[in-house]
Amino acid sequence: MPILSIRRYGDPILRRRAAPVAEITPEVQRLIDDMVETMYDALGIGLAATQVGVALRVLVVDAGGGAVRTYINPEIVERHGEVVGEEGCLSLPGIFADVARAERVVVEARDREGRPVRERAEGLLARVFQHEIDHLDGILFIDRLDKVSRDRIKRRIKKEGLPDEMPAGATAL
Ligand code: NI
Repeated sequence: MPILSIRRYGDPILRRRAAPVAEITPEVQRLIDDMVETMYDALGIGLAATQVGVALRVLVVDAGGGAVRTYINPEIVERHGEVVGEEGCLSLPGIFADVARAERVVVEARDREGRPVRERAEGLLARVFQHEIDHLDGILFIDRLDKVSRDRIKRRIKKEGLPDEMPAGATAL
């Protein structure tokens, strides 16, 4: 299974709103398998299909302990609380910023086999869901920052570019 290339900030696909998956075909399942490999190869803990150039509503998430889960057509149906935490993104290597997110969420989706799933998440996992579902809507985490912080990051990227890889030990979504 091939490792897919992860699209970076500036690639127009990252700004597309992904379309719902109408049917879980073998092609979609192959995409999921490749996304899992790509996520682990990049040392990420979440990956959205738009990040590998496919505008379909598919996510893979590392739920910890080596468990990887797939979410097809995911939707956040409940949000509670607010918490600020640092985020990074595989499409913006080397860029980190504090982002306000709901503290707890409930997500509904379909799994790789098309079975309905409903999950409660808090902490880092809740943050991963919000970050990845944003990707499916063409939203990047820097869009969630105040204008001053966002402009500072954009200037830095313009001036220095992005590094080839994530810094070692960084958590990226
Ligand atoms: Ni990301």
